[in-house]
Amino acid sequence: MQSQQSSLPSYEVYTPNILQIYDFWVLGLTNLYLWKCPTRVIKEKFEISLSDNHLDVGVGSGYYLDECLTETTNRIGLLDANKTCLSATSRRISRFQPEVYQADVRRPLELDCDGFDSISVNSLLHGLPGTMKDKSQIIGNIVNFLNSGGKLFGSTVLADQNDELGFVGKLLMKTYNRLGIYANKNDTLDALKDMLSEHLDHIEIDIVGCVAVFSGVKKNTFIALENLSFPVSPFVFKNY
Ligand SMILES: C[S@@+](CC[C@H](N)C(=O)[O-])C[C@H]1O[C@@H](n2cnc3c(N)ncnc32)[C@H](O)[C@@H]1O
Repeated sequence: MQSQQSSLPSYEVYTPNILQIYDFWVLGLTNLYLWKCPTRVIKEKFEISLSDNHLDVGVGSGYYLDECLTETTNRIGLLDANKTCLSATSRRISRFQPEVYQADVRRPLELDCDGFDSISVNSLLHGLPGTMKDKSQIIGNIVNFLNSGGKLFGSTVLADQNDELGFVGKLLMKTYNRLGIYANKNDTLDALKDMLSEHLDHIEIDIVGCVAVFSGVKKNTFIALENLSFPVSPFVFKNY
């Protein structure tokens, strides 16, 4: 396991006890009833975007990997700052013999490894402190580990898509921001589009509830579209 030192409440919150209820509380209840984005939508995006040489950044409990990886998986990497998340996820998907990297994505990533054909960043950005400019730098660092023609995809809770949020959803978003679990007060759809455009082409963003589910192909990678292993399109934006 590679190691880089760091400290940040947003990842320190994932203790063994919290991880035990993570799938039920976050993926079962919060996504659906509070953020109004069923976990199924994020899972479907995962399934269609995944390659056989994949890196998951911000692994949490490992739910999506456990559900979506198939026997065609050649290589799976796990990157997270939190040892508990890495251990739980590598145990959960041990059948795929994952490569494990402990690192804080807010610092320059020095992973001694080959590139990946796809990288997922689900529910990572909304917990990272700083402006979209800071988050852009982080995404840039991550995209460095994407091979030519590789796809980055993920989801993030936005602050300006909360019209449908009920009282409890708004209160939870505020509370999470106050506690430092979320840091998305300034995360808007426009800022997300600009940020992704700095690093990716063929960007797709679906807004479901207050969640942006996005993907794009590494910028400036000159590869014939028909040679890609997944469907791509020009910038597509859908609002449900
Ligand atoms: C909300 S969980 C998301 C888990 C999973 N991707 C999902 O969508 O269910 C956020 C994950 O990102 C990790 N994380 C948060 N900040 C990080 C950082 N600065 N560097 C690396 N990992 C971080 C946390 O440890 C946690 O595993």
